Amino acid sequence: MATNPPPHQISPLFSAEEIAARVAAIAGEVAAAFPGEFLMVCVLKGVFVFAADLIRALHDHGVHPKITFVTLASYGGATESSGAVRMQGEFAANVAGQRVLIVDDILDTGRTLAYAKQMLSERGAEEVRLCVLVDKPVRREVALEPEFVGFTIGDHFIVGYGIDFAEEFRDLPYLAKLDQATPR
Ligand code: IMP
Ligand code: MG
Repeated sequence: MATNPPPHQISPLFSAEEIAARVAAIAGEVAAAFPGEFLMVCVLKGVFVFAADLIRALHDHGVHPKITFVTLASYGGATESSGAVRMQGEFAANVAGQRVLIVDDILDTGRTLAYAKQMLSERGAEEVRLCVLVDKPVRREVALEPEFVGFTIGDHFIVGYGIDFAEEFRDLPYLAKLDQATPR
């Protein structure tokens, strides 16, 4: 008889309430520091919950950005980045002359957002700012400073609030860290 693999153990890190408070605070910071019209370019898939909350929090601050999505992947089914960033599908949005806020779930090595920033600049974006829910500065391999950050953490692999481990845990309403040592 086949046995199921053991489930992945997780420990809560930030509650739904703590996340909501940080999202509201980030929206306030964006409203103050990046006034005027802009386009949110959200990096799928992990960002989908954060982006949905952030755009409504921005609304509460009288900010009404346009929104588009790009699918970038460097992780496969594991917790270690393959190194190469790939864009999946087309990115059809016209960003020429636009002010852009890139929104991502996690800033880790920096490769994904460095790729996104360069791609948007090459397509003529007038200004590009970075907003991430979670920053892991100790993991950085490409120099990159996000302007807007929800939480700064150490070297943990996190899940929940849209963020997955091998497509698991996206539905968790809070952020948790994976207990097992990650294969790095
Ligand atoms: P980077 O290119 O190394 O900065 O990686 C950024 C992307 O890797 C994020 O947008 C996530 O999709 C993924 N990633 C990095 N760290 C984690 C994590 O702790 N949990 C889940 N995904 C992660
Ligand atoms: Mg991502």
